[in-house]
Amino acid sequence: MARSLRDWLALSPLPRLEARLLWQQVLGVSRAWLIAHDADQPDAEQACAYQALEARRLAGEPMAYILGHREFWSRDFHVSPAVLIPRPDTELLVECGLQAIAGVPSPCVLDLGTGSGIVAISIALDRPDAQVRATDCSQAALDVAEMNARALGAKLLFSHGNWYDSQLDSEHYDLIVSNPPYIDSQDTHLVQGDLRFEPQGALTDGADGLSDLRCIVQGAVAHLRPGGALCVEHGWDQAAAVRALFHSSGFSDAVSLRDLAGIERVTWGRLPA
Ligand SMILES: C[S@@+](CC[C@H](N)C(=O)[O-])C[C@H]1O[C@@H](n2cnc3c(N)ncnc32)[C@H](O)[C@@H]1O
Repeated sequence: MARSLRDWLALSPLPRLEARLLWQQVLGVSRAWLIAHDADQPDAEQACAYQALEARRLAGEPMAYILGHREFWSRDFHVSPAVLIPRPDTELLVECGLQAIAGVPSPCVLDLGTGSGIVAISIALDRPDAQVRATDCSQAALDVAEMNARALGAKLLFSHGNWYDSQLDSEHYDLIVSNPPYIDSQDTHLVQGDLRFEPQGALTDGADGLSDLRCIVQGAVAHLRPGGALCVEHGWDQAAAVRALFHSSGFSDAVSLRDLAGIERVTWGRLPA
């Protein structure tokens, strides 16, 4: 029996917002259109396409992968299962990075582990005078980042490789930013919820959660200019350990910033000038 869109929304086992977003995706329409046309009856092909998306969601697949995009720093980014889904917390990393280069003309910026490119692209678009390089060890992730840079009109350089082993210049950068994998490989959250669907290599370092942060902080010293800044995102319980890494690696200071939930989420510091 044919059903109206209103009935489809009312009868869906999904939260109404998710069912509405899936219908918008199937029909390629806006929220306003859907509300105005809620008495319309989708045809069999559209109903079938909706049911396929609904089944994926009911199996736990994150909405961002089903819809293929996610908003970050007020821009829309393409995402695929090759990349971490952008998190609102990571906006603090962008904010911190932009502040660190506020007084630097034409800064050189390096984003290590760029994933979908959200951090590098946000900085490049907000600081069009900056020369931004984005790296990742996953070519599939770099493909997504390059697609986002093209779609958003950001000019960036991309390189493939393992952290600093990506044809980078030494003592060149005014700012290094990174949101590396920092979840302990034994953390049971890795096999629960949305995390099950995200690339494991984007989530965990395969060790204690600090090994990539250690490599990034220690390696920054050889790649930053004197007075250059490093900003890293980390886990809720890692701030003290990360500040200690900054101090032992030669940074003159290390300050941790709290996210909207009050958790120390980003640590940053500068090399002596
Ligand atoms: C937590 S995700 C962050 C992605 C993106 N910057 C963001 O904030 O959404 C970490 C990224 O680091 C990359 N990565 C993991 N190990 C790496 C390595 N050894 N060298 C370079 N990139 C690495 C992963 O492929 C992934 O894209």
